[in-house]
Amino acid sequence: MIQLYHVYKSYLKGVHVLEDVSLTVSRGEFAFLVGPSGAGKTTLLKLLFSAESFTDGQVIVNNYNLANIRHKNIPYLRRSIGVVFQDFKLLNNRSVFDNVAITLEILGAGKNDIRRRVTKALKQVGLQYLEDKYPLELSGGEQQRVAIARAVVNNPSILLADEPTGNLDPDLSVEIMNILNDINAMGTTVLVATHDKYLLGKFEKRTIMINKGRVSEPI
Ligand SMILES: Nc1ncnc2c1ncn2[C@@H]1O[C@H](COP(=O)(O)OP(=O)(O)OP(=O)(O)O)[C@@H](O)[C@H]1O
Ligand SMILES: [Mg+2]
Repeated sequence: MIQLYHVYKSYLKGVHVLEDVSLTVSRGEFAFLVGPSGAGKTTLLKLLFSAESFTDGQVIVNNYNLANIRHKNIPYLRRSIGVVFQDFKLLNNRSVFDNVAITLEILGAGKNDIRRRVTKALKQVGLQYLEDKYPLELSGGEQQRVAIARAVVNNPSILLADEPTGNLDPDLSVEIMNILNDINAMGTTVLVATHDKYLLGKFEKRTIMINKGRVSEPI
């Protein structure tokens, strides 16, 4: 569950990047976040996992009130959120398996548990047969699927994706969207920032528009 109430964000004093943003994304919902370059999409996503602070208003994510979240609770918040970026952010010196395993290793999961959960996540994105490969041996679409497996391996209740298809051709973009759709169908709340009008037309989902830091939704 994501709730914003009258949220303002400025990086520079007096310049609002987000201006009086209020919106709710309910548990299990799928929504696109669209708007021109510089509109504030990435900024909004970053607020949700406390990667950026905000200037005014309230942000509630998974029952954490981010205006006054305690520092020690930020890792718990982040564990409940998977994040996928346009440029994948994979570690090129680790295998596909090890890229997906990394979060679980950090959390101190046991070896068998890691094997089981990584295999499940790779299966979910259709890549279990590539687990021993390295990122640079994969296509862009495959790399993005690894990044999605890494984002969902810890069973987050929310998945945020920032232009996940920005570097992919239309066929691969549809493939990635289908995977995000399947993840949503299993109960995860999914919020996808995108420019891609083709995807917006093909996948008829709730669309939150952001322009110059203000949010609106077509009726
Ligand atoms: N760390 C920062 N410091 C100062 N200004 C920033 C910072 N990050 C973003 N901005 C500014 O905030 C505004 C919104 O940026 P943001 O990255 O959220 O836009 P966006 O909608 O994600 O754009 P794009 O579609 O190009 O990714 C822009 O004017 C940008 O220059
Ligand atoms: Mg952006």
